[in-house]
Amino acid sequence: MARVTAETLSRKQREISVSEFFAKNRHLLGFDSLRKALLTTVKEAVDNSLDACEEAGILPEIRVELEAARGANRYLVRVTDNGPGIVPEQAPRIFGQLLYGSKFHSLKQSRGQQGIGISAAAMYGQLTTGKPVSVESRTGPEAPAYAMQVMIDTNTNKPKAIGRRNLPDWHLDHGTLVEVELEAKYLKGRQSVEEFLHQVAVANPHVTLHYRSPNGDTDSWARTVERNPTAPREIKPHPHGVELGVLMKMLQSSRHKTVTQFLSRDFSRISPQLAGGLAKRAGIKAKARPNTVARQAADALYKAINDSKTRIRPPSTDCLSPIGVQELLAGLTRGVRAEFYGVETRKPAVYRGNPFQVEVGLAWGGDLAGDELAKVLRFANRVPLQYYAGSCCITKAVMDVSWRTYGLTQSRGALPSGPLIVLVHLASVWVPFSSESKVAVADYDEIRKEIKLAVQTCGRRLGQYVKRKARARSEARRREVFNLYIDEVVNSVEAITGKEQKLFRERLLAISRRKTELAGMLEEAKGAAGEDLETCENVLVVDPDAAPPAADAAVAAPANGKDGPPEDEAPDEVLPAEGLEPLDDLPPPLPTEPERDPGSQLELV
Ligand SMILES: Nc1ncnc2c1ncn2[C@@H]1O[C@H](COP(=O)(O)OP(=O)(O)OP(=O)(O)O)[C@@H](O)[C@H]1O
Ligand SMILES: [Mg+2]
Repeated sequence: MARVTAETLSRKQREISVSEFFAKNRHLLGFDSLRKALLTTVKEAVDNSLDACEEAGILPEIRVELEAARGANRYLVRVTDNGPGIVPEQAPRIFGQLLYGSKFHSLKQSRGQQGIGISAAAMYGQLTTGKPVSVESRTGPEAPAYAMQVMIDTNTNKPKAIGRRNLPDWHLDHGTLVEVELEAKYLKGRQSVEEFLHQVAVANPHVTLHYRSPNGDTDSWARTVERNPTAPREIKPHPHGVELGVLMKMLQSSRHKTVTQFLSRDFSRISPQLAGGLAKRAGIKAKARPNTVARQAADALYKAINDSKTRIRPPSTDCLSPIGVQELLAGLTRGVRAEFYGVETRKPAVYRGNPFQVEVGLAWGGDLAGDELAKVLRFANRVPLQYYAGSCCITKAVMDVSWRTYGLTQSRGALPSGPLIVLVHLASVWVPFSSESKVAVADYDEIRKEIKLAVQTCGRRLGQYVKRKARARSEARRREVFNLYIDEVVNSVEAITGKEQKLFRERLLAISRRKTELAGMLEEAKGAAGEDLETCENVLVVDPDAAPPAADAAVAAPANGKDGPPEDEAPDEVLPAEGLEPLDDLPPPLPTEPERDPGSQLELV
């Protein structure tokens, strides 16, 4: 065999187009199984629809339709939104070119960030069925609606639009319809499209969703909040999150005339004075043009920025749009029938210069299964994450919490068990996903700590409730025993005196009621939380037998803003586990031959 030489190798070298790469590595984008392909396609289209509606200030109404197509394992996914629409000139590149999008360069919270999502779904459909993606859209009542089909040339990563035509009778004033035919598998249950939509409804109470399955079954989730989330504002990069290579690239491409202008205008949180000081410490003239700064000087500037003596304020956080306490409660009550709901929104924090914020919701009791491991609902920028739970920072943080102190059972290194759902939402300008398929969050210490703190705050409130309920149960058992004794005592006294002892019986029963007051919580107001929790705006307790609470009734009382632990990690309050409530103040078991002396029986009470 001829020896391979540098020359023969050089003839084989070729540029690889990004679409060719992802066509071969489709698992990286979430298309590694037929079932997941269906979910990923729905998810990418729904994410885009929600982002577009919210950016345009339109309350989203989204329709997801799945249809079986001709051929084995062939499905049509159709997603329609009432968003701002897409101008026809942009549609080919949006649907037929990987790494093309409006969000990659903008530092604000959105569901999409990479510019791959919908074009990857279109490419997967094309690879598995040979069919193009179909698009219909309209940008407003005055503009004509149009339809077109888009193919992607994977050799060049360039789009090809086919058959553009106007649609005179399109059914919406504005919006977009995307239809992809693809090889897929439709299954219900865990990690299904239905589960995804259900979770979208929980984390996005302002969205109305309609769904039709391939079997023709339909489902709808009407919005329970009548306003869009506060629109996040775009921010400039924070100097602490920028690496040396990025700083050099920014210096080269800055349109500002001087280094001080570059520092104070291309970054957030650098004042002109601070910019001057940084340039001086790096040995760069304040008036120097940014694109003349050499590598060594850039390195010195980078060191000056990251010097521990340099004080730079943390990034501003209006680039984030958390779900919010009331909305989270509304979402949870719309999606989960439980007895206790508790939510917590942490203050924004920063990882690698990127602002992020954690929100947690707990739902406990009610219809939830009591003998299983708790279910963790993970969300990143309001998008449900359904795969790779084990490797996700969110799951790890939930397992870090010591749940036994809140009255739940938990094996070492596992999730707690009990009738519990833990919802965690991570909002960030850049969610550090562990892969391009955006299904699990990478393990950053700062993020894990914030999640743990938020879960602990909610957990403490749940523990308080669970403990109170366990005590009420034990008191109810105590009351039953007292009442048995009272019967015996009164009967005996009646036998001795030969008279009915009505008053005596009533008095003894009154004492029994007083001594076991908490049992009334179970009998009269099922689910009462106790005053401290009832006045906490982050907690909602409902009678599990009653109808589901209305959305605006989701908050129990006006804010008092005082609940919750101090900022830093607070040790978990130690509470007895549910069912282990000490019963040592119970009277001894009823004697088989009751004593006839009423006085001695009274002492038991
Ligand atoms: N339904 C829609 N309505 C309006 N604009 C849309 C719609 N779908 C997509 N777009 C536009 O097309 C762009 C590309 O979408 P795509 O899903 O490929 O990437 P992305 O959403 O930016 O990031 P990601 O890869 O993380 O999803 C979006 O940034 C958005 O500007
Ligand atoms: Mg997208």
